Amino acid sequence: MSQVHTYFETSYISISNEVLCSRIPRSPSDFMGTAGQDYPAAPHCPRHASFTTSLGSEAIKDTETTPCHPKSAAAGNLKKFYARDAADYQRNLAREYGPIVRLSGFLGAPILYVSDSKALHTILIKEEHIFQETPESIANNTVVFGAHSLLSTLGAQHGRQRKLLNPVFSANHMRHMLPLFYTVIHKLRSAIASRVSEGQREIDMLGWMGRVALELVGQGGLGYSFDPLVTDSTDTYGEALKSLVPALSVMMLYRKVAVIAQYVLPAWLRRAVVDAFPSGTEVHKLKNIINTMDSRAREIYNAKKDAFAKGDATVVKQIAEGNDIISILMRANSVADAAERLSEEEVIHQMSLLISAGMDTTSNALSRILHLLAQNPDVQDKLRQELLAAGAADVMTYDDLNHLRFLDSVCRETLRVYPPVTILSRIADKDTVLPLSEPIYGADGTRMDEIPIAKGSEVLLGFLGCNTSTAIWGEDAHEWKPERWLSSLPSAVTDAHIPGVYSNLMTFLGGKRACIGFKFSEMETKVVLAVLISNFTFELSDKPIEWNVAPVWYPTVGKDDKEPRMPLKVGLYKGSWA
Ligand code: HEM
Repeated sequence: MSQVHTYFETSYISISNEVLCSRIPRSPSDFMGTAGQDYPAAPHCPRHASFTTSLGSEAIKDTETTPCHPKSAAAGNLKKFYARDAADYQRNLAREYGPIVRLSGFLGAPILYVSDSKALHTILIKEEHIFQETPESIANNTVVFGAHSLLSTLGAQHGRQRKLLNPVFSANHMRHMLPLFYTVIHKLRSAIASRVSEGQREIDMLGWMGRVALELVGQGGLGYSFDPLVTDSTDTYGEALKSLVPALSVMMLYRKVAVIAQYVLPAWLRRAVVDAFPSGTEVHKLKNIINTMDSRAREIYNAKKDAFAKGDATVVKQIAEGNDIISILMRANSVADAAERLSEEEVIHQMSLLISAGMDTTSNALSRILHLLAQNPDVQDKLRQELLAAGAADVMTYDDLNHLRFLDSVCRETLRVYPPVTILSRIADKDTVLPLSEPIYGADGTRMDEIPIAKGSEVLLGFLGCNTSTAIWGEDAHEWKPERWLSSLPSAVTDAHIPGVYSNLMTFLGGKRACIGFKFSEMETKVVLAVLISNFTFELSDKPIEWNVAPVWYPTVGKDDKEPRMPLKVGLYKGSWA
């Protein structure tokens, strides 16, 4: 109970008064708002000239009551921010509102959207110990992946798990796995070739990207094959995974309620509440998806454990030499002190996380690249010429693959302008200060070089804002231009000390909780493109593709389609392998 109290208390007394302009509430009760309250119109939206002309675009922007940013009394701006159709809203916020934006959160609690690189560096690196995962994201990850997954653990437990898992994702292991990646992706090539051998055909490329990503994370990460990549349908597991992200996005707004429920309701009552949701509702769907993920992870683990116990020669060899998670963790366990060993639950929870984190992100990133290449046939041609000249559709070495500069540029530029994950939250666990790379000005004209942050303040890490900041990337920062990576980057990029683990981008996060699988994802993306673009052509069909906001953005046909998919017209490239 005390934790619930602390949570509420700190939420309401969050962003320190010094950063608040005259219109922003100054007392805890001001933050509350009142249901049905008629919020005064404010001239703070950049589309409303009186504010921007007097203060410039770098001011701290209070978006909560602007006509363009309607606020709900319960969810503040977040209802709009997390809505499925909020792609333009999020892009506009990142583009027009400067590096620090004040949003209104649950029951009016202020939240800062931060895309200033120095402030992000403080949050993720310098003061990483102060800016913690929010209780709702830990609760959410615990429900979806289990209490022991990397995304659900903190501090020393997280560090110990991460150390054990690092070898699965090292560059050396990537070198070792590259031929396996080609083998799997050549199966994908055969599957697509057999479907277009008689002429161009519409194919759901998101579906195939999801299947190949699952198979790669299965074989590369778990030593297990999910899908022979032949028939048109996937199994229940693949289907469950495909629906996870849309189901989770519907739940985004209710995560605070779930955290509170965790403290105030006993487990049996929470389960009963979830069970009471009728089948067909999102809560019910999510519960089924999570059960399917958990039971498949257990099946895989138990099958390998039993085979090992019976002395199955292949499994014994795999566990002795393999670099998949189960083998690494079983080996580590056999030499670790009893106190250091990972429990079976810990191993199983990592498996569920890896499968989902590895599949959703990369399959949507790959789909975005294919969509952009279909929209930009000249870029597709240029990429194809590079790949054909290098013979990239056949097995190359890891280093040769990484020397294909235009391939690399297309990947980096897409991950810059279209990060699959656009925000993550953190909460300050004590009072501190966020220094800024450039001063900003409050609505009353006060200059600020740093922002005091009170204990309990929530910050949103603005990946989109930082990746497309014009101050860092130049005036064309919002445009998708792969060529920008062919010459040296502007010094503003390197001077910004962006804390991202990959290529001066926030896309894979940075610091101790940065994406562990970014090299795996990079290699997968490059091999899929090397093989597909060398052999096939991709064109837009007459079906409109919409990108939907979710923890990982995903495509659908039109705005209302319930099923994630991305049909493109696929044809054989003349003179290609097939
Ligand atoms: C384009 C592809 C990908 C993107 C954009 C991406 C992005 C991210 C981000 C932003 C995080 C931080 C999440 C958080 O703290 O809540 C993360 C964490 C993680 N990612 Fe990725 N990821 C990608 C691919 C992959 C792949 C292929 C794998 C595994 C095969 C993977 C495994 C993980 C894991 C295990 C974590 C948790 C790390 C930790 O907490 O220590 N990711 N990823």
